[in-house]
Amino acid sequence: MTARTPFVAGNWKMNTTVPVGIELARAVADATPADGVDVAVLPPFTHLARVAQVLDGTHVKVGAQNVYWEAAGAFTGEISAPMLQGLCTHVLVGHSERRNLFGDTDDDVARRLHAALSHDLRVIVAVGETESQRESELTGAVIHRQMDAAFEGVEVADVARIDVAYEPVWAIGTGRTASPDQAQEVCALIRGHLADRFGTAAHGVRILYGGSVTGGNAAELFLQADIDGGLIGGASLKPADFAAIVAAARGSATTKT
Ligand code: PGA
Repeated sequence: MTARTPFVAGNWKMNTTVPVGIELARAVADATPADGVDVAVLPPFTHLARVAQVLDGTHVKVGAQNVYWEAAGAFTGEISAPMLQGLCTHVLVGHSERRNLFGDTDDDVARRLHAALSHDLRVIVAVGETESQRESELTGAVIHRQMDAAFEGVEVADVARIDVAYEPVWAIGTGRTASPDQAQEVCALIRGHLADRFGTAAHGVRILYGGSVTGGNAAELFLQADIDGGLIGGASLKPADFAAIVAAARGSATTKT
């Protein structure tokens, strides 16, 4: 049983030009339902103003893929939370590509999360183990460490503005989706971690699964008790595929309640 509205966010990563992104945003708004599921797109920073304009008045929310923790200053190339205010409502932090390719530490992820929260943005915080960590049976330890760090200093009142995305690194962009059981096991662990920390507020937190989600595998993943939607990479660039995933999330809520 769940009262959580499912949520599907499309992480465009470093893809699309501004004109292509505008068309994609329009197509997502046209192809996805306006109720029963929350939908967001996360375009590159360069697209935010135009995409926000195009989606204004639609049901599709806009998010950024990252945020710097300082508000302003000599930080060449960075984008701060105050700069994002008015352009988007969501920010993704802790994506494994930021952690692994750009050196984000657990503490950096926490700093980004706090910056976003203190500027009235909603946060999607991504956690997940690498393949070698899974093989060494370190998945639980890694998730606990990443969750502990990200939620350090977060007040229970702010928990409702955070969604967690479980993204096993070995499943991202590889076509190797976690099985529904594997994904559920870790998402249940994440909810347990949140419950230890925040009590009943944990039941309201949406936990998304990410990693090679497609229209074909979305439904069985989203039917799992602790999976409330998805963070979608590759398939978010194709409106019909993304719409099929959103439809699966919407359908899963009906089945689960
Ligand atoms: P993918 O990416 O759907 O292409 O595997 C997911 C993500 O990185 O958020």
